[in-house]
Amino acid sequence: MKYRTLGRTGASVSEIGFGAWALGGSWGPQPEEVSEAALHKALDLGVNFIDTAALYGKGRSERIIGRILKQRREKIFVATKTPPADGPWPPSPYCRVEDRYSDEYLRENLDERRRTLDVDCVDLLQLHTWTRAWNKNPRALDALKKLQGEGKVKYIGISTPEHDQNCVIDLMRRGYLDAVQIIYNIFHQEPVAELLPAAKEYNVGVIVRVAFDEGSLTGKYRRGQRFADDDFRSRYFAGDRIDRTVERVEKIQADVAKLPPAGDYTLADVALRFVLARPEVSTVIPGIRNVAQAEANAAAGDLPPLSDALLGKLREHAWLRSFWYAGK
Ligand SMILES: NC(=O)c1ccc[n+]([C@@H]2O[C@H](COP(=O)([O-])OP(=O)(O)OC[C@H]3O[C@@H](n4cnc5c(N)ncnc54)[C@H](OP(=O)(O)O)[C@@H]3O)[C@@H](O)[C@H]2O)c1
Repeated sequence: MKYRTLGRTGASVSEIGFGAWALGGSWGPQPEEVSEAALHKALDLGVNFIDTAALYGKGRSERIIGRILKQRREKIFVATKTPPADGPWPPSPYCRVEDRYSDEYLRENLDERRRTLDVDCVDLLQLHTWTRAWNKNPRALDALKKLQGEGKVKYIGISTPEHDQNCVIDLMRRGYLDAVQIIYNIFHQEPVAELLPAAKEYNVGVIVRVAFDEGSLTGKYRRGQRFADDDFRSRYFAGDRIDRTVERVEKIQADVAKLPPAGDYTLADVALRFVLARPEVSTVIPGIRNVAQAEANAAAGDLPPLSDALLGKLREHAWLRSFWYAGK
C-alpha cells in the first residue's frame, strides 16, 4: 500500500481507503461479522483511512468501526459525516443554514458521533451535504471551528452535493476546509476542470467517493439487472438506467482490452487507478463490504499507474448525469 498526504492536515493516508456505507445497510443484507472481517482484512493490508457517516444505518456503520478501532493498535484515520437537520436533500437554496446546521445541532450531533465511534476526538467531520446558498454565511463551519478548539474534532470537511460539487471551491479559497469529499470517476470527470486544481492550490485534502459509479465500473452489472427494493441501487439504476450504463461500461471495457496494461488489470483496478492518476487525490474510498473486496481493492493500490494511452482514451468516456441521485 502507498500513502499520500491529506492536504494541509499532514496526515498520511492510504491511497485506497475503506468506504463503509454498505456496512450500515441500504445495499441489501450485510451481516456484521462479514463487515468486521472486511475491515480487519483491509487494515491488515495497509488501509488506514475509513469513511463513514451518521446516516449509514443510523450509526450502525460507525458502531462497527468503533468496535474495530478498539481491537487494533495502529493509527486509523476515521472520517465521518453529520447530515443537515430535517429538510430537503440536497438542501434547497431557500433553506437557511441556521435551520439545517444550527450551532446546538452541530454540537449535539458531533457528541453523538464521538459516542457512536467511541472516540474522544473525531479525526475528520464532514458536513454530509451543502448548498452554494450558504457560502455567503458559512456559520456552520465557524461553529465547527469552535468545536475543533475544544478538541472534539481534529479536521473539518464537506462532502459535496453531486449536482454542484464546485460549490466548495470558494470555501477552500477562504480557508474553511481541511478536506473535501467528491465524486470523481471514469464517467464523472468534471472535477478536473476546477475542483482538483483548486484543492491543490489551497492544499485541501481530496477524498474520492463512488469510484465505481456505485458498482457499474467494476463491469459486473448486466442489462436488465434488477436490485432488491431495500438496495439503494434499485433507485440509482431505475428504469432504463442500468441498460444505458452497461452499454457504456462495455465500450470502456473494449478500449481497456486494446491498450496496456490490458488484461493484467480488472475493470475495477482500472477504475481505481484512473482516480489515483490525479496527484491532487489523497485517497479513493471504494465501497467495501466483504473480505474479497478488501483484498481486491487494496491490491489495486500496489499496481503500477495506467499508461498515458489508456488514460487518454478513458477521458473520452466522460458521461455527466450527476442528478441521478435525486430523480429521473
Ligand atoms: N454523499 C456522500 O457523502 C457519499 C455518497 C456515496 C458514497 N459515499 C462514500 O463513498 C464510499 C464509496 O461509494 P459507494 O460505496 O457508494 O460506491 P462505489 O465505491 O462506487 O461502489 C461500491 C460497490 O462496488 C462493489 N465492489 C466493491 N469492490 C469491488 C470489487 N473489487 N469488484 C467488484 N465489485 C466491487 C460493491 O458492490 P456489491 O454490493 O454488489 O458487493 C460495493 O458495494 C461509500 O462507501 C461511502 O463511504 C459518500
